[in-house]
Amino acid sequence: EGMTPPAAGTAGSPVPGDVLVLFGISGDLAHKKILPALYRLAERGELTVPVVGVALTDWDTDALRSHAADAVREVIDDVDDDVLQRFQGLLTLVAGDYSDTATFSRLAEEVRARADATDPFVVHYLAVPPSLFGTVADALASVDLNQRARLVVEKPFGHDLASARALNTELARNYTEDQVFRVDHYLGKESVEDLLVLRFGNTLLEPLWNRTWMDRVEITMAEDFDVADRGSFYDAVGTVRDVVQNHLLQVLAYLMMEAPRSDAADDQRDAKHALLSCVRAIDPDETVRGQYEGYLGVAGVKPGSTTETFVSVVLHIDDWRWTGVPVHIRAGKAMPETLLEIDVVLQAPPRPLFTGADDAVPPANRIRIRLQPDSRITFSVLAKRPGAGDVAEEVPIVVDLRQVLGLAHEPYERIFGDALVGDPAHFARFDTLEEAWRIVAPILDATTTPAPYAKGTWGPTATDGTTASTG
Ligand code: BG6
Repeated sequence: EGMTPPAAGTAGSPVPGDVLVLFGISGDLAHKKILPALYRLAERGELTVPVVGVALTDWDTDALRSHAADAVREVIDDVDDDVLQRFQGLLTLVAGDYSDTATFSRLAEEVRARADATDPFVVHYLAVPPSLFGTVADALASVDLNQRARLVVEKPFGHDLASARALNTELARNYTEDQVFRVDHYLGKESVEDLLVLRFGNTLLEPLWNRTWMDRVEITMAEDFDVADRGSFYDAVGTVRDVVQNHLLQVLAYLMMEAPRSDAADDQRDAKHALLSCVRAIDPDETVRGQYEGYLGVAGVKPGSTTETFVSVVLHIDDWRWTGVPVHIRAGKAMPETLLEIDVVLQAPPRPLFTGADDAVPPANRIRIRLQPDSRITFSVLAKRPGAGDVAEEVPIVVDLRQVLGLAHEPYERIFGDALVGDPAHFARFDTLEEAWRIVAPILDATTTPAPYAKGTWGPTATDGTTASTG
C-alpha cells in the first residue's frame, strides 16, 4: 500500500541495533520483566544504545525514568546506583496512540535524534497485545522505520494455524523473515538450551536416546498459582495455547531432535522443525482436560466457560528414532508445586536377574531433568542393598547445576541481548510455529466440559497412573 518494501541486504549476517524501540513500555511485562532485564544488560555493558519507549500514557520521559528505577528496584536486590543512572539516561518516551500516524512521525524524529549512526539500525520490540502487531508493523513501514530494522514480536503468534499464517502474511508485507523475531521466552531459558549441551556435548546420554533404550518420556509443567487477575486473557486462551503450543513443544524439540549440523541458529532451527514435523496431531481421545474448582468465578471468565486450566496429552513421534516411544505432557495451574521437569524412563533390562525392595520388580532407570525452579539432573540407578541376597535398591545420583555452575541469566536478558545483536537462535522460526499449531489443532477450543479438580492437586483423577508422581 505505497510502502517501500524492505531493502535487500537486511538479511544475512546479523546487524547490531543502534537504537531499541520498546512498544508497550508502560505495560505489565515491561514492568516485571523487561526493564529489570535491560538494567542487567546495561550493567554488563551489553546495552549501550538509546532506548525509545512508546506507549499510550500521560507520562513524560522523567516519569518513565522514575518508573524504570522502581521496576528495577522491585526485582533486583543489588542495584548499583551508577548503573541505574546510566540506564535511566538511555530512556526517553514517545507517548501516543498506535493508530495515530503522528505518533510514528514523532518516533521517527526521536530515533534519528537519539541514534549515533546517521542511518541507524533499529530494533523494534512489540510488547503489545497481538491484535496490534500488524498495526504497529505497518505504521513503522509508513515512516520508513522498517528498512534497517528488526521486528521482535511477543507471543502469542496467532490463535491457531490460520490466524498465525494471516499474521505472518501481514508482517511479510513490510519485513523479510530474517527481520522478524518471534519471542518464546522459554527459548531464552538457559535450562532449556542446556538440553542441547547435555545431549550433544556428552556421549553419555545420546546412545540411550532412542526407541531401543527408552520406554517413554514424561514432561510436567506445573504452576502452584491460579489465573489470578488474568481471567479475560486466560479464558480466551487456555493451557494448550498458553504453554503447550509454544513453550512445551519447544522444550520437546530440543529434547528429541536429531543433532543439528552445527550450533548456528538455522541449523538448530532446522533440527527442531524436522522433529516437530514428525509429531502426529494430538488425539482428543488421549487428552485429559481439567479446570480447577472456582475458575468459573474468576473475573473475566465467561459463564459456563469450557476453557482448560490443566491438560495432559500424549505425543507420538513418527520418525525412525522415536516410533513407539510416547511422550506424555501435562501442564496446569493451581497445582501443588511450581516446576518444569522431564522424566525419561528407560526400558527394563532384558532379563530380571534381581528383585527389588519388598520382592517387587525393581523400577526401570529414570533420568530426570528439572528445568525449573532449579536446574537439576537426577539419574536413578539400582545398587545392591548391603547384606545377604541380591536386592536391587533404587538410589538417586543428583547434581544441582546452579550450585555447581552458578546462577543463570533471566530469559528476558537473553531475549533482549540476542535481539540487539541480531542472533535468531532463541526465537521461533515460522515453519516450526506452523507445525506446533498443526499438532495442537485437534484439541483447541474443545466444547466438552473439562474435568474439575481441586486447587492444589495434580489435576483430574483421570490422569492418575498415566504420568509419574514428581518430587
Ligand atoms: C507465560 C504464560 O507465557 O508463561 C503464563 O502466559 C505462564 O501463564 C508463564 O505462567 C510461565 O513462564 P515462566 O517463565 O514463569 O515459567
